Amino acid sequence: MRYRLISWALPAIVLLAVVAGFAYVYWSKGGAGAGLYSRYWSPDPVQGYWDPANFYQSIETVEGVFEAALCIQCHEGITPGIVVDWRASRHARIDEPVTCDDCHGNNHQQLRLPTPDVCGNCHNKQHGEFRDEARYGFPSHVLAMERAVDAPHFADKPKAEVQSCVQCHSVATKCDSCHTRHLFDPAEARRPEACITCHSGPPHPDDESYFASAHGKIYLAEGKDWDWSKPLTKGNYKAPTCAYCHMDGGRHQVAQKSLWKFGLREINPHTSKNQVLRERWIELCRDCHEEKKAAQWLAELDQERKLAWRKLDKAEDMLKDLRSDELLQPAADERPDYPMGSLWPIERVGFFEGQASAFYNVSAIERDYFEMWYFDNLGAYKSAAHGNAAGVEDGHRKMAASLDRIEAKARELRHLSKDGRKVKLAPTLTELWMKGAYTDYNREHN
Ligand code: HEC
Ligand code: HEC
Ligand code: HEC
Ligand code: HEC
Ligand code: HEC
Ligand code: HEC
Ligand code: HEC
Ligand code: HEC
Repeated sequence: MRYRLISWALPAIVLLAVVAGFAYVYWSKGGAGAGLYSRYWSPDPVQGYWDPANFYQSIETVEGVFEAALCIQCHEGITPGIVVDWRASRHARIDEPVTCDDCHGNNHQQLRLPTPDVCGNCHNKQHGEFRDEARYGFPSHVLAMERAVDAPHFADKPKAEVQSCVQCHSVATKCDSCHTRHLFDPAEARRPEACITCHSGPPHPDDESYFASAHGKIYLAEGKDWDWSKPLTKGNYKAPTCAYCHMDGGRHQVAQKSLWKFGLREINPHTSKNQVLRERWIELCRDCHEEKKAAQWLAELDQERKLAWRKLDKAEDMLKDLRSDELLQPAADERPDYPMGSLWPIERVGFFEGQASAFYNVSAIERDYFEMWYFDNLGAYKSAAHGNAAGVEDGHRKMAASLDRIEAKARELRHLSKDGRKVKLAPTLTELWMKGAYTDYNREHN
């Protein structure tokens, strides 16, 4: 009897829970913003330019339905730069030109800004590849926008601080990131400058690491004389650029060979799946190098990662021990809810607990680990991936220094709490911290 009860009640409860889960996600995506936390933020009008499918609303100041010739004529006076670029583009120079209205529509009160789907109507190959990239998971260009808006700190931080996320992560929601409007020139996209508007800064110093490598140095010295109208295939370029390596053959996918995936997680580089990805890399290097050498260089990257993770694991263990001894102060339940209010506030340590969101409203030692993990470690990774030996040394030197600092602070925290219990913050301080003007303002204005 009891067995029979369990045999139907258990599946029923599981089913209910699954349904409730889906219903909750559906509900939480239904707000004014976008993504999982759409109810916690609302978009500024500029968002329409980064994510037109979700947020663009046509201007209504100009009334009329126009033929292409009229769009061009009037815009020659209003936005001459746009018309000059368009005239110089391939779109204007073919037998049946692609005109303003093909991308924006004819009705000036119902304009659209072209999404990848609009370009995809005519560029099935590139658009198809781009869409198909989703099967490699994140990071990838096609998933970039949802990854940004689904990050808890995106919804939690003041809007003025997170507008930039959308600017870079709009690589997913429009096609003019690398070949910019209105020239749409592949030659522009083949150069490293096309990528480093976004691929720069401390967590992803792709620019620094590339320009310091043998490849980047050749590009800097000789690139101005190369014929950039040629496709990125074997024999056309002396040294590779970002797109040569990451979009080989003009394939509109950047995740297709990634093993380490941004260096966020420790992986086993020797699984059979990763072996396939490695073969893809070696195949590419073989355009210019011997196979054996290429394999050795890539193996060095694995070695560097192993070393890095040894240091990171050590720091992570120390933080987790402090957490279980309740020595992190202020603790998660003594800080403003961040990122995103949760039922069980917890100090986040490591990738799987959401470390990437933990750079704000945390204790000093947690911040030290964040910097070690996010800046020193990822900097070392990119240096190793791109062949910048000095950058690898620098990153590991900084990681060692961070580790020392974390060790010293951990000792101090343990020393301060002699009986192993932490001293509680004075209630007035907690109050101030939890309800400060900044916290309140942000809650109300996101
Ligand atoms: C009579 C002049 C005129 C004609 C014809 C005209 N436009 Fe415009 N267009 C404007 C003006 C003026 C603005 C800027 C209005 C504003 O910012 O309020 C504008 C803005 C735009 C914008 C920017 C919208 C935004 O939200 O930033 C686009 C895109 C555009 N026009 C496309 C077109 C297309 C496509 C056609 C032809 C179908 C066209 N225009 C015909 C005058 C014109
Ligand atoms: C191949 C597609 C395509 C064609 C053709 C095209 N545009 Fe655009 N246009 C774009 C894209 C992409 C954007 C950027 C949209 C965004 O920011 O989300 C844009 C943005 C704009 C904007 C607003 C942003 C800005 O830079 O100020 C204006 C105005 C504009 N286009 C006018 C024109 C006019 C006029 C023509 C014809 C001479 C034209 N476009 C032809 C794709 C096109
Ligand atoms: C109405 C169809 C149409 C639409 C919409 C369209 N294109 Fe094109 N595009 C073309 C055609 C046709 C060519 C020329 C192809 C050729 O040379 O074989 C072209 C060429 C290109 C090229 C190569 C240019 C060169 O110099 O070789 C790029 C890049 C490009 N388009 C990007 C885009 C992007 C990005 C969008 C969306 C914002 C877009 N196109 C929208 C039809 C279109
Ligand atoms: C408009 C900004 C922007 C531009 C321009 C851009 N990217 Fe990206 N790229 C991103 C973002 C954002 C991500 C991370 C997406 C995510 O969170 O999943 C990314 C991710 C990547 C990845 C990581 C893929 C993985 O699996 O780990 C590679 C490789 C990459 N881009 C290469 C390039 C190259 C090469 C270029 C130039 C040809 C380029 N990107 C241009 C914004 C950009
Ligand atoms: C300067 C451009 C830029 C800005 C600004 C930016 N990102 Fe990114 N972001 C990137 C690039 C490039 C990558 C991929 C790095 C790589 O693969 O090496 C990335 C990676 C990520 C990742 C990790 C990959 C993933 O899919 O999990 C997340 C999450 C993310 N960004 C969210 C954000 C949020 C939230 C903000 C704003 C607080 C932001 N980004 C601001 C360019 C940017
Ligand atoms: C990350 C940078 C990047 C983004 C984003 C991007 N492209 Fe490209 N695109 C390139 C590069 C690089 C080339 C040149 C490839 C080569 O040399 O073979 C190119 C070339 C093209 C061409 C010309 C192909 C040819 O053979 O002449 C078209 C068409 C095109 N892209 C369409 C698109 C469309 C549609 C989208 C949006 C779905 C898009 N691109 C987004 C980097 C990008
Ligand atoms: C010689 C080829 C080469 C060049 C040139 C190159 N990269 Fe890379 N890149 C790599 C390799 C190899 C990795 C490590 C990939 C792995 O194993 O995961 C990598 C990793 C990355 C990643 C993280 C993706 C991942 O899988 O972890 C990004 C983002 C990236 N590169 C962007 C760029 C940008 C932007 C440029 C130009 C400034 C550039 N790369 C130039 C080979 C190259
Ligand atoms: C388009 C040609 C080209 C491609 C593709 C290419 N390289 Fe190179 N690479 C060069 C050139 C040219 C040099 C400088 C001359 C030399 O050392 O051979 C160089 C130098 C290097 C160096 C420095 C060598 C040294 O002895 O100091 C490393 C490391 C390197 N490449 C790794 C790679 C890896 C790994 C790949 C594949 C992910 C790759 N390269 C793909 C052209 C290329």
